[in-house]
Amino acid sequence: MRGFIDLHCHFVAGIDDGARTVAEGQQMLRALYQAGFSRVVATPHMRPGLFDNHRGDLTAAFAETSRALEGLEQTTPLPTIDLASEHYFDDVVFGRLMNDEALPYPGGKAVLLEFYEIDFPPMIEHRLFDLRAKKRLLPVIAHPERYRAIWRSAETLERLVDSGVAALLDTAALTGKYGRQAMRSAEELLERGLYHAACSDAHRPADVAEVQKGMDRIEREYGLDEVNFLFRDGPTSLLAGQLPE
Ligand SMILES: [Fe+2]
Repeated sequence: MRGFIDLHCHFVAGIDDGARTVAEGQQMLRALYQAGFSRVVATPHMRPGLFDNHRGDLTAAFAETSRALEGLEQTTPLPTIDLASEHYFDDVVFGRLMNDEALPYPGGKAVLLEFYEIDFPPMIEHRLFDLRAKKRLLPVIAHPERYRAIWRSAETLERLVDSGVAALLDTAALTGKYGRQAMRSAEELLERGLYHAACSDAHRPADVAEVQKGMDRIEREYGLDEVNFLFRDGPTSLLAGQLPE
């Protein structure tokens, strides 16, 4: 038990491209616990056109998975679980965020956002500023290492981070799971110290083995302090709505 917090995981059953059954969700949580996570925040997709989930759909699915997990015999301990969402940053979802119809992280101080991979939306800085200034939400960018705008120039992320936005590493990017360019980008962003936390973004039980490999790599190349920063202190700080030091 190492007290890690996973801020991005798809263990809720049957609501997006994550766990298909509660048993699968349970296996994911079990494996994450073994990897050192004592708390896992579910972040099912809210992405119009692809995963047409509104807040009510996600809270209902989470309640159902939670109830079913409680009913299963637990032979090994599971992490504690919470609900948020991975918000696809289009006009519709941005409107929901501004109208309090979205699902920020527990505590209501930060929110997980994903973007179109080919390019960032125009006015991204202004919209992220609105989230911070008008809604008091810290924007957390999911897997920045997968976006082409950041492959072209890490300064794009640096500017966002300087303006008060958080970056969340998908740990399995370090094993090559998302291809060579995403892996190189993850290495560069780590070198530059641009990540504030790291997560599993697990969709299936087998994904956790890749996450573990990525964690091992971070420990080998950057040391245990970096592991504790990315998986414990960083996430704790983001949940409080603050960028970690
Ligand atoms: Fe995700």
